Amino acid sequence: MQLAKRLEGIGEYYFSQKLREIDELNKQGKDVINLGIGSPDRPPHADVIKTLQDESAKPNVHAYQSYKGSTVLRKAMAEWYKKWYGVELNPGTEVLPLIGSKEGILHICMTYFEKGLAVLVPNPGYPTYSSAVRLAGAEPAYYDLLEENNYEPDFDQLQQLADHSSLPVKGLFVNYPHMPTGQLPTMELFQKLVVFAKKNDILLIHDNPYSFILNDKPMSLLAVDHAKDHVIELNSLSKSHNMAGWRIGMLSGTKEKIDQVLRFKSNMDSGMFLPVQLAAAKALSLPAEWYQEVNAVYTRRREKVFHLLAALHCTYSKKQAGLFVWAKIDERFKDCYDCSDSILHNCNVFVTPGGIFGSAGEKYIRVSLCATEEKIDEAIKRIDK
Ligand SMILES: Cc1ncc(COP(=O)(O)O)c(C=O)c1O
Repeated sequence: MQLAKRLEGIGEYYFSQKLREIDELNKQGKDVINLGIGSPDRPPHADVIKTLQDESAKPNVHAYQSYKGSTVLRKAMAEWYKKWYGVELNPGTEVLPLIGSKEGILHICMTYFEKGLAVLVPNPGYPTYSSAVRLAGAEPAYYDLLEENNYEPDFDQLQQLADHSSLPVKGLFVNYPHMPTGQLPTMELFQKLVVFAKKNDILLIHDNPYSFILNDKPMSLLAVDHAKDHVIELNSLSKSHNMAGWRIGMLSGTKEKIDQVLRFKSNMDSGMFLPVQLAAAKALSLPAEWYQEVNAVYTRRREKVFHLLAALHCTYSKKQAGLFVWAKIDERFKDCYDCSDSILHNCNVFVTPGGIFGSAGEKYIRVSLCATEEKIDEAIKRIDK
C-alpha cells in the first residue's frame, strides 16, 4: 500500500522501536534496567481506584459520553486550576477533558495549522510537537534552548524566526517545567512569552504535564494577565496522579478556542468512560499530602540517580523538576547515542540519548525517576563494575 504523503519524514516513535530492542535483549536473558521512559510505576491514590471500581459496577454508566466531558470532571478541573494555579476557568466553557494530553497536541495542530504555515518548536523538546505539526501539513521551525540561557528561549532568535521564516509563523510550543531539561519556569519568562505571542499574533501552546513533580510551586501560563487571548494550555494527570495508562488530560483556554478544538476532536473520538472521568475528578480533589508523598519518593530516587550520573562522569544541575534528570555526558563518549548504547550493551541499563529530543540534546542523556531505589542501586552497581 502506498503511504499518505503526510507520513513522509515521520518515523515510528523512538521508544516504540527501542522497547522492541530491549525486549529482544531481555529474551536473551539480559534483564535490562529501563531508566528511559517517564511512566510512573506507582499506583494512583486508593480512593481513585475505589471510585473507578464503584462507579463501573453501576448499570447506567456504560453509554457514550458527552464530547465535552462530564460536568463533574470539568468542574473538578476548573477547581484544580483555581486551587493550585490561581487561574479562573469557566467549567462549562473554558476546559476540555482529553484522552491524554498527547492527543491534545495533535488536535490543536489539526485545528489551527496547515500546509504553508510554520510553528515554533523547542530544540530540545518533546518529539510529538514536531510530528503533530508535520501531520497537520505545517512545518516546525526550531528555536534553541541552551544550558547557558537556563534553557529559556532567546527572544531575539524567536523574533528572527517569526520575521524571516520562509513560511508565516502561526504557533509557538512551550513546555515548563521543561522536558527533557527539567528547567522550571519563572513568571517573567511566562510574561515575555505572552508579550511575544501578542506582538506576533501567534497561538502560544503551553504543555504543562510536569508542574507538580519535584516542584512545590506549580505555575500555569494562563496566570499571566490577559494570557487567554493567545494561550491554550495542555495539562495531564499522567505524571501528577500516577495515571499515565488511564489517559486523562485537559485543555484550557477561551470558550472560542475550546469550541474550535472540539470541532476537530468531536469528529475523532467520543467522551471518556464515565467511571474514568469520575475517578479523575476524585484524583484532582486530593489534598496537598498526595503531591508531597509522590515527591518524597522521587526525591529519594533522584539522589540515587545523581550517584549514577556521577559514576558515569556526567555533569548536571540539581535544580531540575519533572520525572527525569538531564545530564551532560562525559567527553570520552562521541555523543549521546554512543553513551546510551555503551551503557545498554555493557551494563544492561537503558538511559535515553538526549539527541532524540533535537540536535541541541546530542551531548546529553536523560535518566528517568520511574524506577525503584533498588533498581537504581542495581544500575549503579552494574555501571561501577
Ligand atoms: C512534555 C510532554 N508532554 C506531553 C506528554 C504526554 O502526556 P499524556 O500522558 O498526558 O499524553 C508527555 C509524556 O511523556 C511529555 O513528556
